[in-house]
Amino acid sequence: MPLKSIDPTQTSAWKSLEEHYKQQHQQHLKDLFAHNPERASDLTLQWQDFLVDFSKNRITKETLEHLLALAKEVDLKDAIEKYFDGDLINQTEGRAVLHTALRMPTGKSVLVNGKDVVPEVQEVKAHIREFADAVISGEKKGYSGKPFKAVVNIGIGGSDLGPAMVTEALKYYRNHLDMHFVSNVDGDHVHETLKHLDPETTLFVVVSKTFTTQETLSNATTIKNWFLQHAGPEDIALHFAAVSTNEAKIAEFGIDPANVFPMWDWVGGRFSLWSAVGLSIALAVGYDHFEALLMGAHQMDNHFREEPFEKNIPVLAGLLTIWYNNFHGAETEAIIPYTQYLSRFSAYLQQGIMESNGKSVDRSGKRIPYQTGTIIWGEPGTNSQHAFFQLIHQGTKLIPADFIGFKHSLHGDTDHHNKLMANFFAQTEALMNGKTEAQVKAEFEAKGISAEEQQRLTPFKVFEGNKPTTTILIDRLTPASLGALIALYEHKIFVQGVIWNIFSYDQWGVELGKQLASAILGDLNSPLISEHDSSTENLLKNFKK
Ligand code: F6P
Repeated sequence: MPLKSIDPTQTSAWKSLEEHYKQQHQQHLKDLFAHNPERASDLTLQWQDFLVDFSKNRITKETLEHLLALAKEVDLKDAIEKYFDGDLINQTEGRAVLHTALRMPTGKSVLVNGKDVVPEVQEVKAHIREFADAVISGEKKGYSGKPFKAVVNIGIGGSDLGPAMVTEALKYYRNHLDMHFVSNVDGDHVHETLKHLDPETTLFVVVSKTFTTQETLSNATTIKNWFLQHAGPEDIALHFAAVSTNEAKIAEFGIDPANVFPMWDWVGGRFSLWSAVGLSIALAVGYDHFEALLMGAHQMDNHFREEPFEKNIPVLAGLLTIWYNNFHGAETEAIIPYTQYLSRFSAYLQQGIMESNGKSVDRSGKRIPYQTGTIIWGEPGTNSQHAFFQLIHQGTKLIPADFIGFKHSLHGDTDHHNKLMANFFAQTEALMNGKTEAQVKAEFEAKGISAEEQQRLTPFKVFEGNKPTTTILIDRLTPASLGALIALYEHKIFVQGVIWNIFSYDQWGVELGKQLASAILGDLNSPLISEHDSSTENLLKNFKK
């Protein structure tokens, strides 16, 4: 069954939210705390080893009631069931959306077009385990009989960002294999990577759902040609593996069928790290950690599917975006992890969130008159504090931010961890409370600053505060907690898409550029230039001169 198509702006909850916004938006978070001593505990959820504090958001009990009423009016519950049940909710491509089936434990079943897909998933997972074990143990060897020392993941978008983000996030759990990721069609990327590789001890994993992506096929071909300068064509079978839905194209490329890992059209590229696209993850950290990542995500799936909405973390997180984006006019959201291990997390979520919800047509095919997908950005704290936090603190824009931190570090150096976490807590406190004129004055007085100087500088030193943040405090960065964290954001994307009444699982907007680039490549490789607007034509002539 397709998702229902309900214009959210026509619901009575939306109208109530508009009214509520008018009355409530001037209220300062500090006052909300002053009025309710229980606010922090009222708005904090504990789920397994996650503590999620929503209390520093510009919401009241009433706001939540209206947002939850909105979720009810658009029938989010029905949508969640269709999502998990494998209904063809990616209607523009006629596909189910089942990354959740990839992390189903054995014994469960999920039907796609009447067929249970879980046994197939388990079969591929067994192959991943076998392959990864053999590479890590050194049982699988390169053409000169040496064990593998390095792995290169060749892919782009979802076939790169997920594995690259997770292998970085789980660096602490990594084995001896050196991991490399080649994605950009820019030759700088592949040629710089090749400089550091030994063909005798490097394994290449070509990852492309379609196996037609220009960047990936160009990089894979360049790498194959480089490899063949050192080894024979029969050695490709030892050094190349592929992950794709397109078996015919893989065969054309010459990869041994024993090293081919299938995936399915019901796995979207940006949600595919749980499939064989995660082969590089299994190679980097070992299969057991990969499985723990999947099981962590599965726990979050259960939470999302079963927990009442008022205690459901992805539902509340998704609703908050609607509140800020559609009522407060916020255009972006910052995601600030307080661990260097999550340095690629925001980049990963940029694809997940922006490729999914960057849509302007609703599920009935009508142009949307309201705002949809938010712009996602962020960098790890504390580096980001010394870069762009000024704008969040004192700029003119409202930027809701997620702060993600861990109670325990993996390194065990308490001095560093306490300094890091002091910043983590201080920032959300500062963003909420700001600094009043009286506080600024007291500081001036303590330093003996003249009255004249005080008057001149005070406006610049005052922070109005009232900047909303959500704190996600997790016990420790483990494969399981990382899996749950990623799944939390995946489900948040789903909630937003359902409410905005859009299709979150297609990405037609990236196709036009690909088509034009292919036509322009023809122009660059021939003496003539085909018809373009005068600006493009001018640029092309200039480039070719
Ligand atoms: O950029 C569009 C896109 O289709 C993404 O959705 C996808 O993750 C990426 O290209 C790579 O596609 P493929 O895995 O088919 O090479």
